[in-house]
Amino acid sequence: MSAPRYFIRTYGCQMNERDSEILAGQLEQLGYRPAKDETAADLVVVNTCAVRHSAESHAFGYIGGLKELKDQRRGLRIAVAGCMAQEPETVAWLRRHAPHVDLVFGTHNLHRLPELLERAEAAGEMVVDVWDSAGEVQEHLPSRRRAGRRAFVNVIYGCDKFCTFCIVPYTRGRERSRRPEAVLEEVRALAAEGFSDVTLLGQNVNSYGHDLDPAADLADLLTAAAAVPGIRWVRYLTSHPKDFSSRLIAAIAGDPRITRHLHLPVQSGSTPVLKRMNRKYTAEQYRDLVARIRAAIPDVVLTTDIIVGFPGETEADFAATLDLVRDLRFDAAFTFLYSARAGTPAARWEAREPVPNPVKKARLNRLMELQYAISLEANQAWVGRQEVVLVEGVSRKNPGVWSARTRDNKVVLLDRDPGVELADRFVPVRITGARTFYLTGEVAGAPLDDPLPPRDVALPLA
Ligand code: SAH
Ligand code: SF4
Ligand code: F3S
Repeated sequence: MSAPRYFIRTYGCQMNERDSEILAGQLEQLGYRPAKDETAADLVVVNTCAVRHSAESHAFGYIGGLKELKDQRRGLRIAVAGCMAQEPETVAWLRRHAPHVDLVFGTHNLHRLPELLERAEAAGEMVVDVWDSAGEVQEHLPSRRRAGRRAFVNVIYGCDKFCTFCIVPYTRGRERSRRPEAVLEEVRALAAEGFSDVTLLGQNVNSYGHDLDPAADLADLLTAAAAVPGIRWVRYLTSHPKDFSSRLIAAIAGDPRITRHLHLPVQSGSTPVLKRMNRKYTAEQYRDLVARIRAAIPDVVLTTDIIVGFPGETEADFAATLDLVRDLRFDAAFTFLYSARAGTPAARWEAREPVPNPVKKARLNRLMELQYAISLEANQAWVGRQEVVLVEGVSRKNPGVWSARTRDNKVVLLDRDPGVELADRFVPVRITGARTFYLTGEVAGAPLDDPLPPRDVALPLA
């Protein structure tokens, strides 16, 4: 008999992508092999995201669509996992509208996948096993990483910030840090496997270590990870402005192996809105923090997240956001329409004082127009520079072009000579052009490292 095949559809953030690697690792230990897509799979796992309505509706649509596939292939098993599974509303919806789903489990028990599958197989009806809170931090889980040079490493799980708009503290539970030795052991193992670009992950990565005894901190962890032989670059995501310490700024400034890209979500430029968001900083404090960071790290690449149309946001609040964006000149901003999340405080305010939809959308457009102009100017400042990029692969949109990334997360497109394999190589380039969302460049020297040995089939993370 040939090995059973699995396919994992992943929505949401890098933490979910990392979780999917752990799901894949467990399945491969059970003898499963990756399938190229859902039609070739015996098991489909949908790893969901609950952060905005749009993410949820995509997942619901995908899960609904699997019914037809299951009607054709009765042996197909379907599991729903991730942040949506933590919400009782999702489970109720699945029971009513998606009886073709065999198994539902959440973010806190994904390490129990083998026994969950066994239970679902024995039950013959939908098995739902969602834990309210996390147990001990799990180490040494099997994992199947995406091939290449770049790897994600969890350092802190959960979030304690309770921003009033956000579902994550409910779906991911309280903050739990991994011990620094466990993180560094994983980084060393990754380096031995040929990974050389690691991203340390947490919803709130700079509150790393406060819950440990003895306490640890991100500044030390970044420095130690960067010093692991074989590691070329260390990145980290996501930073909260509240806990961004001077020590951390100094650690980044002092080590060229640590990225100078900083994703520092501001959410709004209006202090009253920030207060109602429970972000725990004022617009002035955010501006001061950026000034301190720029003084210590002049070439920092600064990106942010902004929510438009938070309940009660006035025209004056929104104007304050535009002012902040104009003044701070982010390299890029991810902009979102506020989306009410059941059970959060802001969802109750949304019922009382929503910003009307057309107003929300008009504001979003004004913000994007301003930011796009700034992004283009910021990128133009890179033209003429020499950089090293990691080539990630052939561009999805244009097979004549390599898509690559600098240490500081700028996307660089390079003309591709089909005779020369550059995938997964670190290559010196000269930046020749700038657009709103990427730079263009030309190869300016030989790759800095040996090619990777050919790998097994790539993990089909969709
Ligand atoms: N932990 C990160 C954010 C994780 S969620 C941080 O605090 O910076 C990623 C982004 O989604 C957030 O920064 C926010 O801009 C956006 N977001 C979260 N909840 C949202 C909601 N209910 N509606 C719209 N955008 C939201
Ligand atoms: Fe959500 Fe705020 Fe936590 Fe980020 S810090 S995950 S926005 S609650
Ligand atoms: Fe989404 Fe959960 Fe990440 S809600 S953004 S997948 S932590």
